Amino acid sequence: MMYWEKLSKEAITSKVNQALSKNIRFDKNKIMGTSISFLDPIVFDKKYMRNAPFLTSMIHNPDHRGCHTINVNGSLFEGTKELELEVVRICAEELLGGQAGMQDGYIASGGTEANITAIWIFRNLFKRRYGAKNSEIVVFCSRDTHYSIYKGGNLLGIDVVSLQVDNNTRQIKPHVLEDKIASAKENGKKYFIFVANMGTTMFGSVDDIDMITSIFDKADVFYKVHVDAAFGGFIYPFTNLDNELSFANKKVASVSLDAHKMLQTPYGTGMFIVRKGYFEYLKPQERRYFTETDLTLSGSRSGASAIAIWMVLMAYGSNGLREKVLKMVNRTKWLCEELSKRGIDYYNNPYMNIVSIRNEDITKELVEFYNLVPDNHESPNWWKVVTMAHVDKMLIGDFLESE
Ligand SMILES: Cc1ncc(COP(=O)(O)O)c(C=O)c1O
Repeated sequence: MMYWEKLSKEAITSKVNQALSKNIRFDKNKIMGTSISFLDPIVFDKKYMRNAPFLTSMIHNPDHRGCHTINVNGSLFEGTKELELEVVRICAEELLGGQAGMQDGYIASGGTEANITAIWIFRNLFKRRYGAKNSEIVVFCSRDTHYSIYKGGNLLGIDVVSLQVDNNTRQIKPHVLEDKIASAKENGKKYFIFVANMGTTMFGSVDDIDMITSIFDKADVFYKVHVDAAFGGFIYPFTNLDNELSFANKKVASVSLDAHKMLQTPYGTGMFIVRKGYFEYLKPQERRYFTETDLTLSGSRSGASAIAIWMVLMAYGSNGLREKVLKMVNRTKWLCEELSKRGIDYYNNPYMNIVSIRNEDITKELVEFYNLVPDNHESPNWWKVVTMAHVDKMLIGDFLESE
């Protein structure tokens, strides 16, 4: 059962201030050897920012480069890196069922960076362990998968194959997966990276990981599974206690999360979490480029992002966050019931807070007035409503009345 404590505002402020006090200070210490500094004092004026730990953190400007689950000692910013470690631990172990101390992770710029990092790690693993060529490696994912996966394939020089899904269930069809694996093998592919969705961007659909991995097992190929939980990572683990896309599932190697979606933190608060050992594959092989202290894609990054996530996790505690998420999902359920009463066709995963309505069931005026988002701007088939915190019962009620 996941659990972490809820803290009062005073306790959060004091803990962040304590963490900041352990860091080196640009205004107090002599820091001459690196290209890091405080924020511009004319733009970021301290006077207005007292007692606001996130803003104070921005002024202190801690540099959190690197992956601290691997290497935190001897750092100039040890205090706030400890808060980042706590964030990664809570997400890896409490939220995603990982064993204590068995995951590495860091705060990435967002889901895009986290997804690219996963593909980067597995590509290198296949190359270094088995001598694979790029042309023998392929990424598989459902056609509802986020476009960041295509960016990753393009950057890393490996093909991406998107798999057709059932138009009603949004699930990959088993025979499609079997056929695509067979034809990929015929085309010389030997190593597969499967990106499983814990909440697709457009539908909130969640891939059936057991079906997928059993097909890969039968196909007798090398494969690794990455879970893109950038959208669903702070929803689904709260609403579905049998979540199979977690580290409790041995087949899952890594997970992307995005706090700047459901946790409502500032942008720049994604997260990449992977089982211990995999970061090894990001170490450059050429000795002269070797750097133990930063294996991440981001390089320099603000510690304030980690602090923002830590503050939200602490302000709610696990029980408070579950309550918040359940409220959103219940509002979604109410919207679905009302749409059904009106005979309107939609897709909704009952554990998620997205409702996608078919194009023929909604007017142009309504989608424009309520700023709904289509699956495809040129010729939309679906329009989605995402029941975020600000999409309250009143707003949903107005929408339903206009429908
Ligand atoms: C499922 C999913 N994956 C990845 C991303 C990319 O995240 P970001 O925009 O934080 O890079 C998104 C963003 O919408 C997403 O919904």
